[in-house]
This record gives sequence, C-alpha cells and structure tokens, in this order.
Amino acid sequence: MVQNVAGQMAELEGKDFHLLSGIEHGMRFSRWVATGKIPEFSRLDEEEVEYRVDRCMDRELVERKTIQYTGYRLTFEGYDALALHTFAERDTVDGVGAPLGVGKESDVYEARSFQPLALKYHREGYTNFREVQKEREYTAEKEHRSWLYTARKAAEQEYEALETLYPDVRVPQPVDQNRHAIVMEKIDGVELSRAKLEPEQVVGVLDLVLDEMAAAYEEGYVHADMSEYNVFVASDGVTVFDWPQAVSTEHENSEELLARDVENIVGHFTQRYPQATPDIDRSALADALVDETFEGVRGLE
Ligand SMILES: Nc1ncnc2c1ncn2[C@@H]1O[C@H](COP(=O)(O)OP(=O)(O)OP(=O)(O)O)[C@@H](O)[C@H]1O
Ligand SMILES: [Mg+2]
Repeated sequence: MVQNVAGQMAELEGKDFHLLSGIEHGMRFSRWVATGKIPEFSRLDEEEVEYRVDRCMDRELVERKTIQYTGYRLTFEGYDALALHTFAERDTVDGVGAPLGVGKESDVYEARSFQPLALKYHREGYTNFREVQKEREYTAEKEHRSWLYTARKAAEQEYEALETLYPDVRVPQPVDQNRHAIVMEKIDGVELSRAKLEPEQVVGVLDLVLDEMAAAYEEGYVHADMSEYNVFVASDGVTVFDWPQAVSTEHENSEELLARDVENIVGHFTQRYPQATPDIDRSALADALVDETFEGVRGLE
C-alpha cells in the first residue's frame, strides 16, 4: 500500500517541490528522467539536484534506476506530495487525517479545512504500468504513457462528473482537483454493503438509489460501476460516489450500462433482503426499471 505522505509535508522544502515537479515534467517525455536533464527541468543547479534527490529518495518520493543510464521517476508518494502541496497553497486543505477507504484503484483520506473533506488519490494505471514495463523495459519509449497520465485522467473525469451532477444528484460536493487527486465533501453514513436495513426500509432505500440513477441519467451520465460498495446510506438519504468511469448518455452502450447498473443494485437488494423483496424477479424488474427510467427521462424532454 502507498503510504500517506501527509506526515512528511512539514519536512519538505520549497526546493524539494521544484525537484519533484522537474521530474514530473521530464516524465512526459520518458519513463525515467536522466540525471543530466533534471537541472533544466527543475531549474536547480547540479549540486542542489544531488542534494534534493537524496532527500526525496530517503522519503521514497522518487525512485532511481541505474541500468543503461541513471534516471529517476516519481513514486505515487511523490505525485501525492505534489498534489497535496498544490491543495495547501490554494487553501483547499489544511491537514490530512485517517484513511477513509482503500479501494482497488484509489486511496481516500479524511482531510480538513472549513468543512470535513475527503481527499481521493487515484491509482489507475500503476499496476498495469509495472507489468507492461517488465516486457518492454528497453523498447518503445514512444509508446510511453505513464501512470501519471492515466491516474490524472481518471481524477479529471471523476471531478467533471461530480461538477455536473452536484447538487441535482446526491453525490459528494466537489471542492478541488489537481493532478490525480480530488477533494470533495466528506460523506457521513454507512456503505450500503454494510448497512443493516430494517425490512420496512428496504424497498424505500432501493427506490432512493434508483431515483439518483434516474436523476444522473437526466443530467447526462450513467455511473457504470454501480454496486452496494459505491452508495452511502444515512438517515437523510443516500449518496452515490466513485464516478471516474461514468459514461455519457450519448455513449452507444449507455442503455446497456444503465441496465447493468440497475441489475447490480436490484440484485444486491434481492439477495441481501430476500424476505423484504419476495416477489421480485431480478432481471424482469431490472428491465422494467430501465424502461421506467427512460420513460421518466423521456417524459421530461
Ligand atoms: N466523499 C467521501 N466521503 C467519505 N468516504 C469516502 C468518500 N469517497 C470515498 N470514500 C471511502 O473510500 C472508499 C473508496 O472510495 P471509492 O469507491 O471512490 O474508490 P475506488 O478505489 O474506486 O473503489 P473501488 O474499489 O470501488 O474501485 C469508499 O469505499 C468509501 O468508504
Ligand atoms: Mg468504490
């Protein structure tokens, strides 16, 4: 697991960030940034680069390779530090706290400013990148597309979806985005997967989730990864989060993706609460609900 860089932020100096952003810049052109190029990219002299590289190596913000030529690249911690530095400069975030969740492709932390926030670092592309890299260590620099790019794109897409959907759909309020990170409202509640609903609440909560999916559709989005792990339930309603893979309703597969989302959610309710959902034929209901969703949306056009 990637460590939380927040604890190191106070020790880092302005010039450490110059070094990190110099290496970040160099990674646009190659996976590893040759030592000789770093002074130009970071606008630090050679001696300063040497000193800063050691500091950043000690803190695992950069890593080194020595085969063929000596080069450096950011680790995810290094990229995290750059994003967090930007949020601090913009007064978006005052401090970072405990982990809120570790997903397959992200790390989410509690953060603070004038309101409780959630800071999500995207990790897409990193594992794949490692595998790909093994095969092509010395070839195809041209095909180079680093995980920085993939993770940043995911964060941008998620942020754009949140900005479009909030507040018409119950999603976390977007606050800021930089590089592969987004800052959003912290949601209190319990994940639907862990919620213990009373029998008389079950159908009502299912309806709330479906209403949000219909509202998102109306705003132009299908979530495309709906499950009991991406919904919070609280006493005042439900919130749908985790939107990086959301697709436009213009997308040719959007109806299929919506049907799959509905089926996933309905499937969760029928499996988890069979007593409260006795007569539901899962796929028939999913079909009916998708029709209804489209009807509803069409009716508003
Ligand atoms: N705004 C938020 N407020 C509070 N907790 C959050 C918030 N966003 C995410 N979390 C927590 O972090 C976890 C991971 O978030 P999210 O589902 O967005 O990431 P993910 O890596 O895409 O997950 P997945 O494993 O589904 O791919 C969530 O399960 C949730 O517990
Ligand atoms: Mg998730």
